[in-house]
Amino acid sequence: MLNFEEDIPATPAMPPMGMSSGMDALPRLQPRMPETHPAWMPGAPVSPLYKGGLGGIPRESETTGITPPDQDISRRRVRVEDKLIINAKADVNQLVPFKYKWAWEKYIAACANHWMPQEVNMNRDIATWKDPNGLSDDERLIVKRNLGFFVTADSLAANNIVLGTYRQITAPECRQYLLRQAFEEAIHTHAYQYIVESLGLDEGEIFNAYHEVSSIKAKDEFLLPFIDVLSNPNFKTGTPEDDQTFLKSLIAFACIMEGLFFYVGFVQILAMGRQNKMTGAAEQYQYILRDESMHCNFGIDMINQIKLEEPYLWTPEFKVELKGMFQKAVELEYQYAEDTMPRGVLGLNAPMFKEYLRFIANRRATQIGLDELFPGANNPFPWMAEMIDLKKEKNFFETRVTEYQTGGALAWD
Ligand SMILES: [Fe+2]
Ligand SMILES: [Fe+2]
Repeated sequence: MLNFEEDIPATPAMPPMGMSSGMDALPRLQPRMPETHPAWMPGAPVSPLYKGGLGGIPRESETTGITPPDQDISRRRVRVEDKLIINAKADVNQLVPFKYKWAWEKYIAACANHWMPQEVNMNRDIATWKDPNGLSDDERLIVKRNLGFFVTADSLAANNIVLGTYRQITAPECRQYLLRQAFEEAIHTHAYQYIVESLGLDEGEIFNAYHEVSSIKAKDEFLLPFIDVLSNPNFKTGTPEDDQTFLKSLIAFACIMEGLFFYVGFVQILAMGRQNKMTGAAEQYQYILRDESMHCNFGIDMINQIKLEEPYLWTPEFKVELKGMFQKAVELEYQYAEDTMPRGVLGLNAPMFKEYLRFIANRRATQIGLDELFPGANNPFPWMAEMIDLKKEKNFFETRVTEYQTGGALAWD
């Protein structure tokens, strides 16, 4: 059996952003099929040697020498070349030696960006919301629809990681980042709840919008099948079909949910902040946008790495299917823009979002090596780049009352 691992360097380089990395050619190697159900997978046959601990891998003292440890990939010391993003047989409990340094670096960067919602002063937002002349009806609708989508969206994102994606990832560096990402999704849900509570909004209305508002429901219904397939306890990667299913789900979440479905909402609230309205909410959205931007880029890095490791997955039919997903997503997000903004408001209008969504869809598609879907689309909101690149020490809306201190920054004496 051909083993494609011999054809890739131990630490493959990432393709430059927006380049296809030469993987658009037809498959040249046979898929590597797992010989056994990986030990870390739920439902894996339990080894007669297994007595608990170490994530299903027997302790050295528990082995009887049936297979010499140095020949059993699940028990020997992990080598860089043993690691793969999915379908690796190496012990997932050994973080080092590092192979995917980009994942570890993103984990460190995410921890350095730590923030908590209650650090942001909401007094001005509360006064604005209570003042009958503080916001127009259209501006209030934007705030409520925005929260209506986001209060449940980040729970979906967290569930997708914890119940689905994490189980299939066999690179411990990536698992480490996913653990951080899952916590950030909890912080985002907390932030949206904190805004709802601060403004005294009708919780039932906001938290049920994903059932009751058709443009929000349509976005969630688009995403749910991608969560359902991964959260099925019987799902596992290991065949080309299942690996494609997994990859499609990663693309749906990183490129479409975190990379596209969040952006109408982010632009609307950040545009409000730029006009000195709802600056506390806007500041929280700004921190969330920075986190989501990293989630999206991390997902894209994993997608491109899986493409390098399993190039035969990237078939012409698969690319056509992905293109259809992106087109549908742009349609759904545009409907959401029209629904949240029936008239022009805050210097924004729905047609501007059509152009913006096409611009973002092009960006996400080219980041994973697909062709542009809407050639020539431009960015009508260049100021968004400034929001994403916010440095922690810079407080754009100047509402933050305390600077977060990490444990490492505390004095112990
Ligand atoms: Fe989030
Ligand atoms: Fe996220």
